[in-house]
Amino acid sequence: MEIRPITADEVPAFRQTISRAFGDDPSDDDDADERFRAFFDLERTYVPFDGDEMVGASGSFTFDVSLPGGTATPMGGLTVVAVKPTHRRRGILNSMVQAHFDDCGARGEVVSGLWASESSIYGRYGYGVAAPVHDLTIDAPAAGVPAAPDEVRLITVDEAGKVFPGIYDSVFTARPGQTSRNDVWWKEREFRDPAHWRGGASERRYLAAFRDGTAVGYATYRQKAKWENSVANGSVTVIELLGVDSDARLSLWSLLCSIDLFPNVTADNQPPDLELPWQVANPRAIQRKELDGMYVRVLDVPGALGARRYGTSDRITIEVVDTMGIADGTYALEGSPDGASCSPTTETADVTMDVATLSALYLGADLADTLARAGRIDGSGEAVARFGAMLRSPIAPNCPEVF
Ligand SMILES: CC(C)(COP(=O)(O)OP(=O)(O)OC[C@H]1O[C@@H](n2cnc3c(N)ncnc32)[C@H](O)[C@@H]1OP(=O)(O)O)[C@@H](O)C(=O)NCCC(=O)NCCS
Repeated sequence: MEIRPITADEVPAFRQTISRAFGDDPSDDDDADERFRAFFDLERTYVPFDGDEMVGASGSFTFDVSLPGGTATPMGGLTVVAVKPTHRRRGILNSMVQAHFDDCGARGEVVSGLWASESSIYGRYGYGVAAPVHDLTIDAPAAGVPAAPDEVRLITVDEAGKVFPGIYDSVFTARPGQTSRNDVWWKEREFRDPAHWRGGASERRYLAAFRDGTAVGYATYRQKAKWENSVANGSVTVIELLGVDSDARLSLWSLLCSIDLFPNVTADNQPPDLELPWQVANPRAIQRKELDGMYVRVLDVPGALGARRYGTSDRITIEVVDTMGIADGTYALEGSPDGASCSPTTETADVTMDVATLSALYLGADLADTLARAGRIDGSGEAVARFGAMLRSPIAPNCPEVF
């Protein structure tokens, strides 16, 4: 079966293949195909054809992903993965993932990242959960969110267009796991708001927090009204909330948790180390559900490990087992808070793991000890402790957006 990039003429069929796989229909607004062509890099599509029939879809976003220690590295973001129900379980996904890895390799992307529809699919390709998330359900009146110092204003989408990208860029490397955004991403993903994306809720509302006249944080949300026995029980869905510091974030949470008639606040894909539960009077009013979040797959071990920074200054040898033969080998990693280098070695490994395990640790999630106890890292207790201390990030990785 041929796997190839699509042409501009094939965009309608591509969009239909993706939508159908996820139980939807492509939107039929006049310029949808044209916008898709402007947004999506068609050269980065890997699409299977059975004769003339398009029988699946997949493609990549071109990102930088932020890393521990305030650096970033190129990452191919695998997305829109779908196989027609008539052609499932014939190895088409295997071929599309291989095509994506080849493409990442050719472009110097040392890691791949994705969000999975099912957590059972991607471990076989060497992906590990690198940035787990918390989905929050907040009983806002009960939580007791304190007031905070920054002034919060509702702004228009045009004003948001001037304010949000600058704030995002300023916090981009402050937390590992965040993906870079260009102008077309902001336009199509953050500021476009067609009615069929709203799920019966309001259009997006845009908030910004200001300190001495300077924007220091922002939030995007929707509202959905509900009345029960004449009592208001509406919901606020927070789409994204970012701030330059804790005061900025608390100012936004404080506003979002105090909107009259809307006592239920939900916020998906929050970082597991969110400070909010430690700031409120009643933390149990903030229910947290942990989910898998963003997956990462290390493709080039020296490139990937050399790009990030480390919690301790140490040297360790790592054997990586990769059944796909991409990252296989033993490597010496020398790293510190200021820099790192990694190269193949013939030395005996201090720690041994499969590539999905290394990938789960790559963004700094505090997991080495757990993974060793789960039987996924071999090595002495002392070696695992040193390895874990090196890789752990004081700021938990988080990708605020599903792609
Ligand atoms: C997930 C999907 C892309 C798989 O495509 P496919 O072509 O049937 O997959 P393949 O035949 O290449 O399967 C490769 C391997 O993955 C396994 N696999 C495929 N889908 C799986 C799933 N949903 N759960 C668990 N294992 C799965 C296969 O059993 C096979 O394992 P094997 O090598 O041990 O035999 C397809 O089922 C689909 O389009 N699903 C709906 C949309 C979706 O969920 N897309 C993923 C978005 S992240």
